[in-house]
Amino acid sequence: MTGDARFTKEIQRRRTFAIISHPDAGKTTLTEKLLLYGGAIHLAGSVKARRAARHATSDWMEMEKERGISITSSVLQFDYSGFRINLLDTPGHQDFSEDTYRTLVAADSAVMLLDNRRGVEEQTRKLFAVCKLRRIPIFTFVNKVDRPGEDPLKLIDDVEKDLGIAVYPVTWPIVNSDGFVGVFDRSTGEVHLFERERDHGQRRVTDNVHGLYDEIVIDIMGESAHHQLLEQLELLDALGSSFDREAFARGEVSPAFFGSALTNFGVEPFLKSFLELAPAPTPRESSAGVVDPLSPDFSGFVFKIQANMDPKHRDRIAFVRICSGAYEAGMSVLNVRSGKEMRLTAPSQFMARERTLVEEAWAGDVVGIHDRGNLRIGDSLAEHGTAAFQGIPRFSPEHFARVSVPDPLRRKHLDTGLQQLSEEGAVQVFYEEGLTGPSPMVGAVGPLQFEVLLHRLEHEYNVVATLHPLSYHAARWIVGNDAAIDEVVRGYGRARVHDAKGAPLVLFPNEWSLRSAIEKAEGVTFHEVAP
Ligand code: G4P
Repeated sequence: MTGDARFTKEIQRRRTFAIISHPDAGKTTLTEKLLLYGGAIHLAGSVKARRAARHATSDWMEMEKERGISITSSVLQFDYSGFRINLLDTPGHQDFSEDTYRTLVAADSAVMLLDNRRGVEEQTRKLFAVCKLRRIPIFTFVNKVDRPGEDPLKLIDDVEKDLGIAVYPVTWPIVNSDGFVGVFDRSTGEVHLFERERDHGQRRVTDNVHGLYDEIVIDIMGESAHHQLLEQLELLDALGSSFDREAFARGEVSPAFFGSALTNFGVEPFLKSFLELAPAPTPRESSAGVVDPLSPDFSGFVFKIQANMDPKHRDRIAFVRICSGAYEAGMSVLNVRSGKEMRLTAPSQFMARERTLVEEAWAGDVVGIHDRGNLRIGDSLAEHGTAAFQGIPRFSPEHFARVSVPDPLRRKHLDTGLQQLSEEGAVQVFYEEGLTGPSPMVGAVGPLQFEVLLHRLEHEYNVVATLHPLSYHAARWIVGNDAAIDEVVRGYGRARVHDAKGAPLVLFPNEWSLRSAIEKAEGVTFHEVAP
């Protein structure tokens, strides 16, 4: 194969995606089963076991151990059926969902995982909104079908109404008097009947493929359930008999799948369709126009910075999503924001938290780059030219506190710490006046972020700070003239602050006052995502 042919093939076989869900819908379980089917692990249960083992040995952040939650995220990479899959892992705890928001910017598609009893939940809604903002294709996987749940037709209808996206079921659950036994694949017309194993889904499940009218299918289902299935399929066809791939690519229709990550039922038909439908690395907008992933020049952006993964090395790892070209160890690139050249040294790829050095990587991949504090979230890196990718959105915080240090001589250290931690995306910092004014405020999407902040200020910046919770519960970036903004603060809000970049925000005491302001205030616009 020529160099060019290999280059194109490598990029086109990449599929980079993330799973979005409300806690407990089964993301950890599904991730593990995708790894099982992808051959990356041989026995399911090992991810959890490894996580437990890591907790016993790693002390990079005490809190992770104490609380048994995964605060940081990484990338799981595996090969399946000729594809190279990058599953961008995101924190399970919703207090760290800002991290998930940012990770979604690095994904080319997303899988929305739903619990069959709960349908769309609060966290699903927020994460879906981020996907919608980016117009990325979204798959729907309805999980836990092994136990009775909402009627599938109603569930799909609810998703459509709640999220404003059309849903096209690709697989449909087959249920008999014993429960969930298989799925009908509308794209192939095949029935997959799964065999219940006694190993709790540790291994791949036996999948017997039949035609819809095969005797064995009618025997297993029973005539009346079979008849009901035919009726449901007719109804689905009446609602829409073909899947519109272009509308899917624009994020307007979501192909839906039913299954049970726990028992593995329906996981493989989903994975196969996913690979057929999910986009290869897509072109991305930049300040220099659209960047084609097949362009030979390396480009990418930092979507996440993680400090102290390894307690022995107190440096940071910047996670870079490659947007075009190929990465080679030691290459020189330009940091477009700072105008500085930098060498991409000793990057690593991640299987959970074990690092392996990579020599090459292509558009669609994520590489971890060693950083000594030069990189920020949203920085673009370019081998040639100065293309800057669209920034990583910052979302309006929901928790606020003032940070102070008892010793005024430590204020400078506090400011440095806050600045660096906000560049890393660990917390958002707001000021009422200039840097020298009253103690700064911090804002977070989830309160656990504050605990991480205090811990890191103390251990990394030698600043023992105190947080004073503030009674604001919503914030919006606001655009308008000064007088109009002041009017909003007087009428509905509580305070006017600005972020580290100088953009003004209004802080509101509650959702109600925020809603009133949005409805009634004149001459200003409100933004949930930093403009
Ligand atoms: P999360 O990462 O989205 O938070 O969810 P996780 O995979 O940890 O799953 C949450 C719970 O749901 C777990 O039960 C898990 O076993 C269960 N679960 C996941 N997929 C399925 C499924 O397809 N069917 C059924 N019935 N349950 C499922 P748990 O009791 O909280 O934990 P565990 O003791 O089973 O580990």
